[in-house]
Amino acid sequence: PIVKDLFGLSNLEEKIRKVYGLRKVVVVPGDSESSPLAKRELGRAGAKALLSVMSNDRIVAVTGGSTLAEVAEQLTPPSNVSLKGSWFVPARGGLGESLEIQANTIVSTMAKHVGAQYRLLHVPDLLSEDAYQSLVQDPNILEMINMIRGAQIIIHGIGDAMEMARRRKLDSETVRELQEEGALSESYGYYFNEQGVVVHRMLTLGLRLEDIKNAEVVIGIAGGKSKAKAIQSVLRFGHEHILVTDEAAAIDIVKNI
Ligand code: G3H
Repeated sequence: PIVKDLFGLSNLEEKIRKVYGLRKVVVVPGDSESSPLAKRELGRAGAKALLSVMSNDRIVAVTGGSTLAEVAEQLTPPSNVSLKGSWFVPARGGLGESLEIQANTIVSTMAKHVGAQYRLLHVPDLLSEDAYQSLVQDPNILEMINMIRGAQIIIHGIGDAMEMARRRKLDSETVRELQEEGALSESYGYYFNEQGVVVHRMLTLGLRLEDIKNAEVVIGIAGGKSKAKAIQSVLRFGHEHILVTDEAAAIDIVKNI
């Protein structure tokens, strides 16, 4: 489209797509970190990308965060297909986020907006090893976890590691560990270093790395100049199919390629 080319956004999309071997990259104008309007556009583009890969028998695993909450707000029922037989589930158990941006909340909003089904995962934030081991024995939780792990579509946000640690109020020892490990980004409860290697994971139930590697479509959504490095680190992990981002992040990603 003419407007996109005017901003040079198609150029950015194509460069990022090629370098990281993605199926599709969408870059919206502006900086979603400083502009609520740009954030809404990011959400709208994310909603469009999600609907473009959905059909009526899919399981979609969804993470939390303010960007995914915006995607949920912007989702509207598709006109050409019923999604009554699709399911939305949270990607992981609680990660210490406030209610509005928890995966469970976003999952129910998304499902209601498109007329699909949903199931929630009610497990406490950040489990101890003992609690984790006993919860995975529970038949109801196990059934839910198996559903999450079978998700064909994963849609997730990307955060700066230290920013996420602060927001989720991680204890100072964990923060120090993350720093020592060189954690730069966070997605679905996993922390990655600059090269895209997983250096840390939060002890919650849900998606494992192998489930992400096996999913049919993984959609990452994140924007803002300060997230460029974090996005790049998750792209280097190498299991994204679709990236939805904004101009501010895309410019810095391309500079750093
Ligand atoms: O894991 C990443 C975070 O959920 C991203 O959160 O969309 O509020 O920046 P955000």
